[in-house]
Amino acid sequence: MKKALITGIGGQDGSYLAEFLFKKGYQVYGMLRRSSTFNCQNIEHLFNIKESNRVHLLYGDMTDVDSLLRIIKEVKPDEIYNLAAQSDVRVSFDIPFYTAQSDAIGVLNLLEAVKNLNIGCKIYQASTSELFSGDKREAPQNEKTSFNPKSPYGVAKLYGFEIAKVYRESYKMFVVNGIFFNHESPRRGENFVTRKISVGLNEIKSGKKEKMFLGNLDSKRDWGYAPEYMEAAWKMLQQKTPQDFVIATGETHSVREFIEEACKVLDIDITWKGKGLNEKGIDKKTGKTIVEIDPQYFRPNEVSYLCGDSRKARKILNWKPKTSFKDLVKIMVEADLRREKRHNICC
Ligand code: NAP
Ligand code: GDD
Repeated sequence: MKKALITGIGGQDGSYLAEFLFKKGYQVYGMLRRSSTFNCQNIEHLFNIKESNRVHLLYGDMTDVDSLLRIIKEVKPDEIYNLAAQSDVRVSFDIPFYTAQSDAIGVLNLLEAVKNLNIGCKIYQASTSELFSGDKREAPQNEKTSFNPKSPYGVAKLYGFEIAKVYRESYKMFVVNGIFFNHESPRRGENFVTRKISVGLNEIKSGKKEKMFLGNLDSKRDWGYAPEYMEAAWKMLQQKTPQDFVIATGETHSVREFIEEACKVLDIDITWKGKGLNEKGIDKKTGKTIVEIDPQYFRPNEVSYLCGDSRKARKILNWKPKTSFKDLVKIMVEADLRREKRHNICC
């Protein structure tokens, strides 16, 4: 039975990947970092099934090379999926040192641990479309588009990308970078804009709050459905030769469009009034303001336009996205609607 180690197993992607590998028959090991609350709601269900002895959790941290050495020595994985990261772009401007430690040096820690233990496992590195500048003239972005990150997060991830390549080329290690564009789901952290909108509009609809505050509504993202992206990560490690891939839908939509689509699912008729910081989203039926702009959600520097070209993955991995933008929004908003209803029944 193949053994896979997932760092960041409790996050959105880690939880979907754990499910996917579990179904493929892998013995799944997940690295968690210690927190004061047992932050495992995304993976709890994996421990309630018959073969739950195939999922193991181990404590470790990307910034602590000793913990990585201990875990890798103990597990001896065939495949490592390095998903652990400080993944919030805006927050990376507040904690740039920590972001560099976990997202850049953390990758080096992992590569060194695998090299020194000489266990010859395959490594997937979670890279990102935040490596690109977001300049519309360079879109759609693919494996050949130049990198020009705009945030401490993007720069730390660029180090992770390059050091992974260096280890692949210098030591003949099987290391690949997945240049993944934004991918979302009902398990997305509520700090990210899609989930913030999905949760926020549901709370407005149920009367729990009056309005929500957002930043740049005109930023454009290539949003896909997270579980499909985890299959691509697995496929990358099943190739004969290690190489990097862009994974994306090839469609781009603004934050404003995401809000409008989410409003449709909840039967809210939204209209926009005003400009810039004074722009407001108004519910036509009630006349109430439901969206306002708060400058705290703008970034000091923004990647404004992302639209990926994943032709290489479509050809070599035989991978393509299945869920449309409209369906993705529906999946997320309806999941939060069900959550909101359950909550209202309980309280
Ligand atoms: P996520 O939900 O934020 O999950 C990240 C996980 O990493 C969390 O479980 C977190 O643990 C853990 N973690 C953070 N710092 C750590 C450290 N120093 N040591 C050990 N674990 C640590 O992110 P995601 O959306 O699943 O993304 C997974 C990976 O793909 C990340 O590397 C992200 O940068 C990258 N990526 C994501 C996207 C996307 O659109 N989702 C696109 C491109 C690339 P806590 O719960 O304790 O914080
Ligand atoms: N988070 C957030 N909150 N973003 C907002 C808000 C708000 O209130 N208002 C507007 N936005 C805009 C941001 O300025 C950005 O342009 C866009 O919405 C998406 O922001 P996020 O959802 O925070 O995601 P991200 O694109 O910055 O980063 C995500 O995708 C990257 C791949 O491109 C993360 O998952 C990264 O880890 C990942 O690498």
